[in-house]
Amino acid sequence: MSADPSSTSTTDGTTDTSELPPPPSSLDDVPGWFWRVDQELFGWLLARQSANGIKGDLLELGSYLGRSAILMGRHLQAGERFTVCDLFDSEAPDEDNTAEMAMSYRKTLTRRAFEANYLAFHDELPQVVQAPTSVLADGRIPAGSCRFVHVDASHLYEHVAGDIQVARAALVPDGLVVLDDYRSPHTPGVSAAVWEAVYVHGLKPVCLTPEKFYGTWGDQEAVTRDLLARDWRAEGFRLDEEHINGHTVHRLAWDDQAGPSGSRAGATGAGAARQQRSAVRRLALDLLPPVLTRAVRRALH
Ligand SMILES: C[S@@+](CC[C@H](N)C(=O)[O-])C[C@H]1O[C@@H](n2cnc3c(N)ncnc32)[C@H](O)[C@@H]1O
Repeated sequence: MSADPSSTSTTDGTTDTSELPPPPSSLDDVPGWFWRVDQELFGWLLARQSANGIKGDLLELGSYLGRSAILMGRHLQAGERFTVCDLFDSEAPDEDNTAEMAMSYRKTLTRRAFEANYLAFHDELPQVVQAPTSVLADGRIPAGSCRFVHVDASHLYEHVAGDIQVARAALVPDGLVVLDDYRSPHTPGVSAAVWEAVYVHGLKPVCLTPEKFYGTWGDQEAVTRDLLARDWRAEGFRLDEEHINGHTVHRLAWDDQAGPSGSRAGATGAGAARQQRSAVRRLALDLLPPVLTRAVRRALH
């Protein structure tokens, strides 16, 4: 563990002294793909675990610049340990993973940037494992030690399937696993690994958000009770019940019809601008007389 983000050894043994951006002051300043509904649900479920006396370490596979790790770190209780595992600026273990890293992360990601972001919100770094997540299968995370595992590293089938087994071994009996990108068009391997875990390895789905799958190998009904102990709809979320092959599963999403104030509150850049445009468009089309509505439609398209 290094507590000093001001310099970091790079993979070629040199020291990285490049400029970091100014420290983030809110989670929204940290680049990443961790949106409001998942921020709320992580916070809610982690807090409920502590309130229910479920103790255990926290583990994140794939941290990027720290957006989800920073939030998880806020829920660490005395005596619990937080471990993150990421390649950061080291080599990927195979060709496909190398391509994935080059396409999505290499331009922005360094361990030093992760550490600087994390230390803008917390006094101490988590335990950092800078390596492929496959190294965690060596037992360095004690079996049955974690209450919450977030799997968000490689999105390739073989890696995710391995990461799910790491999570399974690491979790306490009623622990929770969260699996990212279980249904994105560009990540079919994640979908395959996630539903394989359900149908072959006994993972019980509890909640699905647009980006993440929440499940347990423990008491699914207890987690569902915790989920439903909050009035999500009153806060502008959509909550729907589904039945999947004997499992009762809830879908949770921000309700876009509820207005722009909370829609993907974490979204930055193009996403946020698009949402703002769509909210303005909706409002304009609702309020204006038809002749003006046509003009607005033309202007906004
Ligand atoms: C989608 S990002 C994580 C996003 C982060 N959880 C957040 O919410 O902002 C995926 C991360 O996984 C890391 N990664 C990709 N393949 C990996 C592997 N085989 N082992 C460890 N980390 C890997 C990448 O370096 C990247 O930081």
